Parts: sequence; structure tokens; C-alpha cells
Amino acid sequence: MTEHPNDTAIREIDEAAAPIIALDAGERSTHPKRVYVKTYGCQMNVYDSQRMGDALAAEGYQPVDSAEDADLVLLNTCHIREKAAEKVYSELGRLRDMKQERRADGREFLIGVTGCVAQAEGSEIVRRQKAVDMVIGPQTYHRLGEAVRRARSGETVVETDFPAEDKFDHLPLAKPKVTRKRGVTAFLTVQEGCDKFCTFCVVPYTRGAEVSRPLARLVEEARGLTEAGVREITLLGQNVNAWHGEDETGASIGLGGLVRTLAQLPGLERLRYTTSHPRDMDDALIEAHRELPVLMPYLHLPVQSGSDRILKAMNRKHTAAQYRAVIDRIRAARPDIALSGDFIVGFPGETEEDFEATLQLVRDVTYAQAFSFKYSSRPGTPGAELDDQVPEGVKDERLQRLQALLTEQQIAFGRSKIGETMDILLEKPGRKPGQLIGRSPWLQSVVIDQPIGEIGDLVTVTITEAGPNSLFAVPASSHMDKKQVS
Ligand code: 5AD
Ligand code: SF4
Repeated sequence: MTEHPNDTAIREIDEAAAPIIALDAGERSTHPKRVYVKTYGCQMNVYDSQRMGDALAAEGYQPVDSAEDADLVLLNTCHIREKAAEKVYSELGRLRDMKQERRADGREFLIGVTGCVAQAEGSEIVRRQKAVDMVIGPQTYHRLGEAVRRARSGETVVETDFPAEDKFDHLPLAKPKVTRKRGVTAFLTVQEGCDKFCTFCVVPYTRGAEVSRPLARLVEEARGLTEAGVREITLLGQNVNAWHGEDETGASIGLGGLVRTLAQLPGLERLRYTTSHPRDMDDALIEAHRELPVLMPYLHLPVQSGSDRILKAMNRKHTAAQYRAVIDRIRAARPDIALSGDFIVGFPGETEEDFEATLQLVRDVTYAQAFSFKYSSRPGTPGAELDDQVPEGVKDERLQRLQALLTEQQIAFGRSKIGETMDILLEKPGRKPGQLIGRSPWLQSVVIDQPIGEIGDLVTVTITEAGPNSLFAVPASSHMDKKQVS
């Protein structure tokens, strides 16, 4: 199953986060130290791990891909749901044992916790696990180098404030060398934080207020990526479509304007963005979908619930009808757009009738892909204070029903592409020799067994088969030939 934009499969992230940092010769210290960054959670964490790796390269740290090989381990954590934080604590227990063994040999082993658990739990982490040397919240990553120096001299460092300076001004830009190793697709954080305060969500507390990075910096970073061979950029933000900035004339622009500017970059074949809020889908962005072929026809637009009563209790600031109206506008502008969404079942007070409204919305909208979660009470959020928590068994049962419907829709969407000819971007080798894996415009994995091109090429294929999670294809012309022969 494809990973959720805010919940990428951890194995996948480990591959992406750890071994990607290339050091410039000038950055190597005479005694190179080694860092392992383990990333949990969302794509923004993947991006942050890369930036942290770059910052540590400047301190003489080389990347390695396991804790066993490292002198410094950073757990870049996620706090969106309960289990994620618990996983971090059990991982910290393992790291403590490793640290004790190293210390017995007189060797250095530092443990840092970064990301949203670091922000939410702060010094509680060092209280609960004394082996931790550093706790660093997402808004203080530009101070990471200094924190590591302090930790190496024996200090326990907890940095979880929201400083006035912008960390992006102090972190190195995404490095072309780094991204070349990464492949043909890259993330680019354009906006961070959230001012929406949905009552279930920790993000406004862990990532802070909405901040947009300036247009010029983004263009510079995106140009670096495309010059290094990146063909597809996914713009990231917790509320990416709340991005706002100024163009060269000083006029205010939103994400539609940013996308329009980036679309002009030579070499950039595809642009995506995630995650959006229904209230911020403005006309300029919808027009960009109508007009820009580079903007892929895929939209992750969480709705969480189909019941107005629950939407209100969630403080989503829109009704189900308003969400449906946004979908109608976007489909009118880009009829082939595929939709993805997030759903929460069992929010406090959710009745069977409320849940039925969610199912009905799913039936009406139809999703190419979607992610559904049982409500998990997060300390410090207004939702955690609500009475009328839904019993676990009811949540389980609703989740199963919702997921059955969503899976059915996902399979139907895959099947609807059989026989269609489309461009896919070749991203990586497949499991079998000679096999390649690409992505459709609708974010589906496409497996191709015949020689067709190289990684990084945009090639035209015809879909022949659809599995539950991937499509299978042949080169478009060979399909035509076969048809003519038969
Ligand atoms: N419980 C369950 N799911 C949650 N999400 C966010 N907070 C919670 C929570 N407390 C889900 C939402 C969001 C996605 C990233 O995670 O659906 O869109
Ligand atoms: Fe959380 Fe709501 Fe903000 Fe999304 S919009 S990050 S769900 S508070």
C-alpha cells in the first residue's frame, strides 16, 4: 500500500534519510564522526532529516545507515498518533543498551531525539530515558550543530522553543549532490506549521504557527534540485495550500502563483503538493490545475469526517457540503484529477449516523486512494478533554467498514486505467533484473518488464494489468504492435 503523505512507511524513510548525504571534501574533518538519522512519520520529517544531515556534515559527521555504525543517533520522531511515540521510547531503550556497551569500551555514543515527539514531550524524554543527550524540536534544527558540540562536552541539551529567527535562513539548502543520490524525485518544504487548530491534532503545538518560506529561496532550492537531475518535486507543508508570498513585483501570491513560477524551471517535468486544507483551495490554485500540465492531476485533500456535527466538533471550519463543492470545482477544472483523503473514525461523540455520513461522502466523492485512522486522543489537544470517547471496539469496527469501502475504490481506480496510455516517470529498478518502476501521473506505481528507458526518463506506456497496489505496463508502441498482430 502506498504510504500516507504524513505517515510514510518507516523502512522506506530509513533508506531515504540515512545514506543520502554526500560530503564535500572540504567538509571532512580529520576525525570523521558518523551519524545515523532514523526518520519516523511524514515526508516533512524526511526532508528535515536531510537538512539535519547537511548541517551535521558541516560539523564533520558522515552519514551511516545503522545505529551500530554511528557515534550519534538521531531519532526524528512523529507524534501524530499514540503508537508512534511509544515506538520511539522502545527504540530509545535499545539505544540506551548500545550506549552502555560503547561507554564500557570508552567510545562516544550520543542519542538525540528530534521531531514532533521532541517538541511535545521536551524534557520529559530525558526524564523518562536518561541516556538521551539531546532533545531538539523542529523549529531549532539550525542550532543542531551547536547542540551536538554541547552534548559532546557532557551537557544534556533540550531545545524546544519557537525562536524568532527562521531556521530555514540558517540551514543549508537542499544540496544537489545529496539529491542526485536520492533519485529523480525530491521533496521541498515550502510551508510549515498550522494555525487551523483542529481539535484532534497536535501539529499546531509541535510545529508551531504557519510559516511560509519566501519565493526566491524556494526557486533557488528548486533550481538546484532540477540542475541535479530531479524531475519531480513535491512541495510540502502541513497546510501547503496556505503558502503565501510575494512575487518579484511585490504582489501577494498563493500556492497557485508559486506553482506557476516553479513550472517554468527547465528540466522540471512534474510538480505535486501535499497536504492541503479544503478551506485554502483558492481559485488561483484550481486554475493552475486547469492550465499547467506540469501540475499532476492528484490531490490529497483530507476531510476527516462526512458529518457536519463532527466536523464542527473537530473545528475543521467547513461543512461536508463545502468540501463537496471544492471537489466539484477542482473536477470541473481538471476532470481527470484523482483524489486522496484522510479520515478519522471514532472522534468523541461520533454516532453511527455520523459515521454513515462519512461512508456516504466516500461513496459520492470516490477516492483513488485514502488513509483512515482510529481517533487517538492526543494530550494537550482540545479533543482529549471531550467526554463521550468512542469505545475501542466500535472504532475498530467502523475502521474496518470504512477501509473496506476505500480499498474497493482504490482497486476500481487502478482497474480503470487498464488499456490507458500514459506517461510514467521511471524512478527505480524493480525486484527482477531488467524491471523498472515508474509513477503514473496519479501517483500509482507502474511496473514495466521490457526495456524502455533509463531511470529519470519520462516514457509512454500502456497499462495492461492492475494489482491492488501497482499497475503493470508495456511500452506504448509495443502494445500497439501486439494489437496489430493479433
Ligand atoms: N487521531 C487519529 N488520526 C489523526 N490524524 C491527526 N491527528 C490524529 C489523531 N489524534 C490524522 C488526520 C490527519 C492525518 C495526518 O493524521 O487524518 O489528516
Ligand atoms: Fe492538524 Fe488540522 Fe492543522 Fe491539519 S489542518 S495540521 S489536521 S490542525
